[in-house]
Amino acid sequence: MWLMERPNNRPIGVFDSGVGGLTVARSIREMLPMEDIIYFGDTARVPYGNKSRDTINRFSKEIVDFLAGKKVKAVVIACNTASSFSRAFLQKNYDMPVVGVIGPGIRKAVGISKNRRIGVIGTEATVASGAYDRELEKTQKGDFRLFSESCPLFVPLVENRMISGEITEKIAEKYLFSLRKRGIDTLILGCTHYPMLKKVISSVMKGVSLVDSSRAVAEELKMVLRSNGLSAERRGRKGKMRCYVSDAPEKFKKISGMFLKENVDVKKAVL
Ligand code: DGL
Repeated sequence: MWLMERPNNRPIGVFDSGVGGLTVARSIREMLPMEDIIYFGDTARVPYGNKSRDTINRFSKEIVDFLAGKKVKAVVIACNTASSFSRAFLQKNYDMPVVGVIGPGIRKAVGISKNRRIGVIGTEATVASGAYDRELEKTQKGDFRLFSESCPLFVPLVENRMISGEITEKIAEKYLFSLRKRGIDTLILGCTHYPMLKKVISSVMKGVSLVDSSRAVAEELKMVLRSNGLSAERRGRKGKMRCYVSDAPEKFKKISGMFLKENVDVKKAVL
């Protein structure tokens, strides 16, 4: 039974195009263990990384309508592509906090970088959207430079469990070569799947600090919940997590073990 009687004890809705957002859900579980989470993975329509703004806005709205129907108190867009295109659009449409992954990632990077040269890697759609550049502008740190690179093969590598080995290293070297030449000291992992490739990426980008947006998002969510009086209060009970997917749950269940440290209940949902 979910405790629905008080708004602050309602679940947090977290969504992604598929499994990748579980990296964000995991960080939220670690940082906010009292919170209940309802996760939605749009496995029938993944990937989002090569789709248009209109399509991603439509998909995102359908998912948030579903989550709103489950009485969530806040939504986390645990997908860099959907955050790039749809965060402002969603925030306009719903009367609850909508937290994306772009702002927290860039603010974290700005706080870490010493030489003010930051790299960001993500899907083609995220990079083409210019969302990171716009978020950097908002920080008013005019002397920071941002260099972006899309890494389209990283998502299928992770989903096929190729998170190490020669092929993955070679692909990482190819994608990251130009960023290395730019002399960046900080690199934002601007896609939910990339934290799974941290080892390979850091072996190619030696001496560069990696920003795992999932941790930055959990930190931001904590602040947003607190400032809206929405932090869960239920002493002694650990929050629960429940997952919904738009395609058959089996594959999601199988791969979710790589992302999460716990077994979760997964059901198919029709939007
Ligand atoms: N979740 C997406 C992101 O973070 C990656 C997978 C996809 O292309 O849908 O951008």
